[in-house]
Amino acid sequence: MRVELRDIHKSFGPVRANDGVSLTADAGTIHGILGENGAGKSTLMKVLAGILQPDRGEILLDGAPVRISSPAAAIRLGIGMLQQDPLDFPSLSVLDNFLLGSPGGLVLDRRRARDALRRLGARFAFALDPDARGEDLTVGERQQLEILRLLRLGVRVLILDEPTTAISASQRGQLFAALRAMAADGKVVFFVSHKLEEVQELCDAVTVLRRGRVAGEAAMPAETGRLVQLMFGQEPPRVTRARLPLGPPVLELADVTASDARLTLEHVSLQVRAGEVVGLAGLEGSGQRLFLHACAGLAPVTRGRVRIAGRDLTGRSYAQFLAAGGAYLPAGRLGEGLIPGLTLTEHAALAGRHGTLFVDWRAAARAAARHIGELHIRGTPRTDVQALSGGNQQRALLALLPDHVSVLLMEHPTRGLDLESAEEIWRRLLDRRARGTAIVFSSSDLDELLARSDRILVFSGGRVAGPLDAREATVERLGELIGGKGV
Ligand SMILES: Nc1ncnc2c1ncn2[C@@H]1O[C@H](COP(=O)(O)OP(=O)(O)O)[C@@H](O)[C@H]1O
Ligand SMILES: [Mg+2]
Repeated sequence: MRVELRDIHKSFGPVRANDGVSLTADAGTIHGILGENGAGKSTLMKVLAGILQPDRGEILLDGAPVRISSPAAAIRLGIGMLQQDPLDFPSLSVLDNFLLGSPGGLVLDRRRARDALRRLGARFAFALDPDARGEDLTVGERQQLEILRLLRLGVRVLILDEPTTAISASQRGQLFAALRAMAADGKVVFFVSHKLEEVQELCDAVTVLRRGRVAGEAAMPAETGRLVQLMFGQEPPRVTRARLPLGPPVLELADVTASDARLTLEHVSLQVRAGEVVGLAGLEGSGQRLFLHACAGLAPVTRGRVRIAGRDLTGRSYAQFLAAGGAYLPAGRLGEGLIPGLTLTEHAALAGRHGTLFVDWRAAARAAARHIGELHIRGTPRTDVQALSGGNQQRALLALLPDHVSVLLMEHPTRGLDLESAEEIWRRLLDRRARGTAIVFSSSDLDELLARSDRILVFSGGRVAGPLDAREATVERLGELIGGKGV
C-alpha cells in the first residue's frame, strides 16, 4: 500500500498545527516523521488515523482518494495507530484486549484466538501471557499487545507516535526488529519521533516537520547536520536589539558536575550577569533540563559550586534557591507549573503565602484580578487554570512570579504558543530583564535562541559547548554543535 497525504491543513484556534503538509510513503518502508515538539507530527498522524478531521487536504491509498471519518474507518482501510500508552481495557486479560474490535468480539473461539496471539507474538518475539491482566503489563508490553491486535485486524499501515518514550532498551530493540519485519512484509510503518538517532537507526526515509510545514525530506541514512538544520530551520538570525549594560554576576557555576537518572553534566562553568539572557540549545533531553535543575537546587551537584546572587547555594534546596531570588518555570505549564483543578485565585493564594497558614482569600482574589488585568489573561479569578489556553497559562505563570527575581530559569517559554502570544511573553520577559533579571532559557527554536539571547550554550548528549556570542552565532554553527560536531 502506498500512502499519500496531500496539502493537509489543520488548525486549533490560532495555531496552525498542520499548514499544507504533503508526503508519500511506499509499501515496505519505515517512514520517519521527525520534528521538535509542537512541529505538528501527532496532528498529522491523527489525521491519517481518522482521529482528527483535516480542515483541508486529501489522503490517497494506492492512488485512490479516501475519506477517513473515524479510527474505525481507518482500521477498515487498513490503517492503525498506536497510542503512546495504549491499553483500552486495563482490567481485561491480555487475550481479551487482543480480541477487541475483532469480528465476533469476545465470544469467538478463544482457543483459536489464543493460538493466533501466540503465533503472531512468536513472529516478533513478543512473549505475552494471554491470561495476564492488561493492567499488569509494562508500557512496552502493552505496546506489543496493541501492535499484535492491530495486525490481527488486518492493518497494513501502522503508525507509531513516539513509541520509545516509556519503554526499556531491550523492548526498544524488540520493537525496532518487529517494525523492520513488518516493513519487510510489505507494510508501511510511520515512525514519529523527535529523536534523531532513532530515526537514523530505523527509518528508510524521513519527512521533517517544522512549525506545521514540511521542512524537507531525506532518504536514509542522511547526514545528521542536514537533519538538524531541517528540524531547527535556517532563516538568517535577526539580532538587532541593543545590548543592555549588565549588572553583577547573579548566577555562577564553577566547574559543576551534576547528574540525574539519565545524564551527567561535567565541568560546566558559566557566569550570567544581571540583565543578561542566556539561551540553552540542543535536542530535547541533551542536558538542558539537568543544567537548569542543578542551578535551581533540584538536581544534586556532586562537584563544583553554584552561586545565586552572590550566595553559595551548592547542595542547597530549591526553597533556598527561591529565597535567594531565583525562579524556575518548567516546561510542563500544567502539572509542573500550575496545578490543574485550581483557579487563578487559588494559585494567587498559594503563591502569596509567605510561610503562614492563614489564607487571605480576598487578597488572593484581588491579586488574581490584578494579574488578569496586567497580563491580559483571558479568564476570571475563578477560572480553572486547565481551561486557559497555553498562552494564557504561560502569562499566569509569569504573573505568579515575585516582583523581584534575580535569576529566572525557563524551559521552552513559548512552546506551543501562536506567534502573537510568544511575542507577548517575550515582551514581559524583556521587561523583567530591563529591571535586572537574568534569564536562562532552553528552547527548541533556533530563531528564538538567536533572537533573544546574548549568549548561547549548546548541549549535545550531556556535553556542553560555548557559550557562544549570539550576535556571532549562525544557524549552521549551532546545528553542527547540536548534532555533536565539535562539542
Ligand atoms: N487538541 C489540540 N488543541 C489545541 N492545540 C493543539 C491540539 N493538538 C495540538 N495542538 C497544537 O498544535 C501544535 C502541533 O502539535 P502536535 O501535532 O502535537 O505536535 P508534535 O506531535 O510534533 O509535538 C502545537 O502547537 C500544539 O500545541
Ligand atoms: Mg506529538
